[in-house]
Amino acid sequence: MVLENFALTRLNTLALPAHAARYLEIRSTEQIEALTTDHSLRGMRRFVLGSGSNLVLTGDFDGLVLRALIPGRRLVGEDAGHWHISAGAGENWSDFVQWTLAHSWAGLENLSMIPGSVGAAPVQNIGAYGVEVADRILWLAAFDTITGKSMRFSRKDCCFSYRTSVFKQEGWHLDGRHIITEVTFGLPKRWLPQIAYADLSAELAARKKFAPSAQEIARSVIAVRRRKLPDPAVLPNAGSFFQNPIVYAKKAAELSAIYPEMPAHPQADGRVKLAAGWLIECAGWKGKRLGPVGFYEKQALVLVNYGGARAADVAALTRVAQSDVRKKFGVDLVPEPVFL
Ligand code: EPU
Repeated sequence: MVLENFALTRLNTLALPAHAARYLEIRSTEQIEALTTDHSLRGMRRFVLGSGSNLVLTGDFDGLVLRALIPGRRLVGEDAGHWHISAGAGENWSDFVQWTLAHSWAGLENLSMIPGSVGAAPVQNIGAYGVEVADRILWLAAFDTITGKSMRFSRKDCCFSYRTSVFKQEGWHLDGRHIITEVTFGLPKRWLPQIAYADLSAELAARKKFAPSAQEIARSVIAVRRRKLPDPAVLPNAGSFFQNPIVYAKKAAELSAIYPEMPAHPQADGRVKLAAGWLIECAGWKGKRLGPVGFYEKQALVLVNYGGARAADVAALTRVAQSDVRKKFGVDLVPEPVFL
């Protein structure tokens, strides 16, 4: 049933107030098919919403918000190297990871406790503690509302890179043309732990887990996340608010000469990834507020809503943090969440 003038405040973890002119919850591919023949919705702007955990609502939306709630998770096959596990777009990401681990299918443990849904995970190529979801996706199914057909996207078709994919581009998932319905993961039969990430290896060492199981890695990831990242249910936020900037080697070398302690990670293409959280902290914004919003006291990369924030408050803090980082380091910070 299509609802009108629907409040989205409880459906975005940053808790910004906004309404959608129309709102529909989708629980099956058949329901999407029916949608394409509904003349009353033709020509309307659309937006596909998952759990709203990587979203900034800039105001009321005059179109149709489609909330992807398609359920289901199962083993669908295997090849020599992998178990093939499929999950509906509406499954909760964190529950799905726990479910795979409970079945002894390792491979997603580093991505434990990331807020969000399975269908949203590939859109921004979620990543944490040295693993990106792109490393584990075999293919996904998306319904094309223009052709009325379901399509399969291979990992290559998804054009994954750091915190982005083809679905984050104009004309794809975000504007409601392609609706991701199911994602299929390839989880390795011969699993190797990925524990090189500094925070994770320190946590495992503190727990004296020198040959950790996937479950132990998951527990350590969860402990680190609980320590560093605010729980959106307590302190509304959208996770990392900026992408970590990737700069040319020359620029990174200039900055390292002035700030030898600056975190810098060389990339395969010769460029260098810097830590936006470190830049924001050095620009003086860690734990600091501007009106009802601020940067979290334990992780400066997370913008938090202390209560009653509106889109304009978020925009004001974004501008001033970007400007201060640009003045001090000559680096441009690009927001990480999706803006609607
Ligand atoms: N740092 C500071 N001050 C801060 C925050 C970080 O100096 O306030 C430094 C840390 O000491 C470290 C470096 O910056 O040397 C990186 O920090 P951290 O390991 O906490 O990770 P991050 O780069 O800030 C990224 C992801 C997170 C993910 C973590 C762990 C992005 C935009 N963010 O954060 O993802 O959980 O790594 O892998 O890539 C998200 O996308 O919403 C998210 C939380």
